[in-house]
Amino acid sequence: MDFNKLDLTKLDLTNRRGIITGGGQGIGRALALEFGRRGGHLLLIGRQQATLTETARLVASEGGTTEIMVEDLTRAGAIQRIAERVASWNTVDLLVNNAGNVRAGRLELTSDLDVHSMIDLNLTAPILLTKALLPALRESGKARGSILLNVASGIALVGMPFYAVYAATKSGIAQFGEALRRELIGTGVHVATVYPGATDTAMMTSQNAGDELGWGRRPLEDVITDLIAALEAGEHEINTAPKGRREMQQLNITDPLAVDAALAPGLEALELAVRDHRSI
Ligand SMILES: NC(=O)c1ccc[n+]([C@@H]2O[C@H](COP(=O)([O-])OP(=O)(O)OC[C@H]3O[C@@H](n4cnc5c(N)ncnc54)[C@H](OP(=O)(O)O)[C@@H]3O)[C@@H](O)[C@H]2O)c1
Repeated sequence: MDFNKLDLTKLDLTNRRGIITGGGQGIGRALALEFGRRGGHLLLIGRQQATLTETARLVASEGGTTEIMVEDLTRAGAIQRIAERVASWNTVDLLVNNAGNVRAGRLELTSDLDVHSMIDLNLTAPILLTKALLPALRESGKARGSILLNVASGIALVGMPFYAVYAATKSGIAQFGEALRRELIGTGVHVATVYPGATDTAMMTSQNAGDELGWGRRPLEDVITDLIAALEAGEHEINTAPKGRREMQQLNITDPLAVDAALAPGLEALELAVRDHRSI
């Protein structure tokens, strides 16, 4: 059976249409440039018109085409409005669930509002958006192959202290992708999940953990290069973490309490370094 009608090795998106949430900056903008350069017509979604417009300009300078939609994905009716917006498209070939936010710190010091905000944006919105667009992705999958790319986090593979809620949302979206990938076997919808480690974007500006705590950040360009190469290689589980973190991820499978022991001496320093980390 042909599981993968889209020739990912070329990732040729000519006459293809896709949606990128959080396309105004960071990982979403970088992916818009990559997919736009490959010929895709993209709908960029986010709350800030200015950053979306700038991404659209950058994609156009690479020869790609976009439309933008100013929308808060967590607002009532947002998913419906997005579905209506693309209803006139003759195809939906790509959905990138990228928009996300974070609030770090001790659980008991995290406001209920921030808890809901992370769950609403990082988990509920991508699930509902995927559900709404799945019939179109299936159609495209059947005809020519389509892609669903969910942006999780390395935290889905190693639950980090002071990131309990964020970790819950990111492991949630990762398992959502794994289950859906199996549900969609043979449909031509390529479901992929990316697990970025700490990546140098605006999301990380209020976080002060560095190499000394094992939180060295990778440049955005390097992460995107790895991600696109993995997608072109047909991978479903895309891990862009650096070597040290991968070793910890391995250890977390075989001996999770050894990870606890490794993290314990640095707990106090980590709490201090991440206590202001907030992108909500
Ligand atoms: N950077 C890292 O170290 C890292 C590591 C692992 C995983 N990730 C994940 O990668 C994804 C992108 O992160 P990033 O580093 O590029 O972060 P970022 O620079 O903070 O970008 C987040 C994007 O999400 C959009 N967004 C935020 N709230 C939204 C809302 N309510 N409705 C619609 N759009 C919203 C933002 O646009 P507006 O402000 O215009 O709404 C922005 O474009 C996230 O899911 C994040 O969790 C990042």
